[in-house]
Amino acid sequence: MRTPVIIVNFKAYAEVEGDRSIGLAEACQDVSDETGVSFAVCPPITSLSAVAKAVTIPVMAQHMDPRKPGAATGWTTPELIKAAGAKGTLLNHSEHRMVLADLALAIQMAKEKGLECCVCTDTEATSAAAASLAPEFIAVEPPELIGGDVSVTDAKPEVVSEAVAAVRRVDEDIKVLCGAGVKTGRDVAKAVELGASGVLLASGVVKAKEPRKVLLDLVQFL
Ligand code: G3P
Repeated sequence: MRTPVIIVNFKAYAEVEGDRSIGLAEACQDVSDETGVSFAVCPPITSLSAVAKAVTIPVMAQHMDPRKPGAATGWTTPELIKAAGAKGTLLNHSEHRMVLADLALAIQMAKEKGLECCVCTDTEATSAAAASLAPEFIAVEPPELIGGDVSVTDAKPEVVSEAVAAVRRVDEDIKVLCGAGVKTGRDVAKAVELGASGVLLASGVVKAKEPRKVLLDLVQFL
């Protein structure tokens, strides 16, 4: 994925149930086409394939399990998300935490399938630990700010800059994103100022009355 990037996580909000995921992904695609800003979308797994068919911007899964194809009822393998058209996956989201050994294996299995990983973390220490597993992206998000109205870039800018520095010390190639409460172009600009290569956000776009308006606002300083 090209950076700076705006990754929109659709989560499991009612606003993206069924085909409504396609409409939101198409809005992201339009704004990306119009402005040249890099976007990626993470629809619910049930809409992954339909969304991947509808847009050309990268589509990512919200989670992936380090399981092999076969008898794995209810688990989501790298092969399944790749076949659905995903280019990568979020891992270890604050709402879907993983055990360290499973996270390491998931990143390894994703790499073997050419899938990019964005590992979510919450502090400088967990960002450094995640960096040692060499994912392509790390997104630092203080859990208490997720879904709220105050952006991490205002409430805890040090969390972003410290995560960026900690990850760089381990592996300069990993891109660090930030998220939690991000809603405006000003928040995105501040994230970039703090050293981030973009943002991971959800409610500000998914729950907006006019998502397209918010998307255009988000990219205005990039
Ligand atoms: O995955 C993005 C996320 O957890 C942040 O959510 O609603 O604060 O943008 P939100």
